[in-house]
Amino acid sequence: MTEDVRVYVEEAPGQRREIQAPTDMGLSLMEVMKADGYDIQATCGGMALCGTCHVEVLAGPELPEPSDDELAMLESLPVMTQGSRLSCQIRLHPRLDGLVVRLMPQDA
Ligand code: FES
Repeated sequence: MTEDVRVYVEEAPGQRREIQAPTDMGLSLMEVMKADGYDIQATCGGMALCGTCHVEVLAGPELPEPSDDELAMLESLPVMTQGSRLSCQIRLHPRLDGLVVRLMPQDA
């Protein structure tokens, strides 16, 4: 029995869209958001090299610490907040149920 996880994307203040996804396929948050229609270029294919999958974590369970590669990429972006993460580096796991993120603008 595999477990699905529910994550939420805040599209505007107070407006959240639920995405439900399986956790047994090794998918990243970037992949499920992209599949759900969000405009994420992911030009590096999920290698923590392009920064186009930048999200801000707004609420939810604690995530594993970012790797050095992820941190280096985040620090090179024009805007980095306390909750900044690369969604391609977040593997879906039942533990992440209830995670709330928002997609960060690319032209900031
Ligand atoms: S997809 Fe390129 S950094 Fe995440």
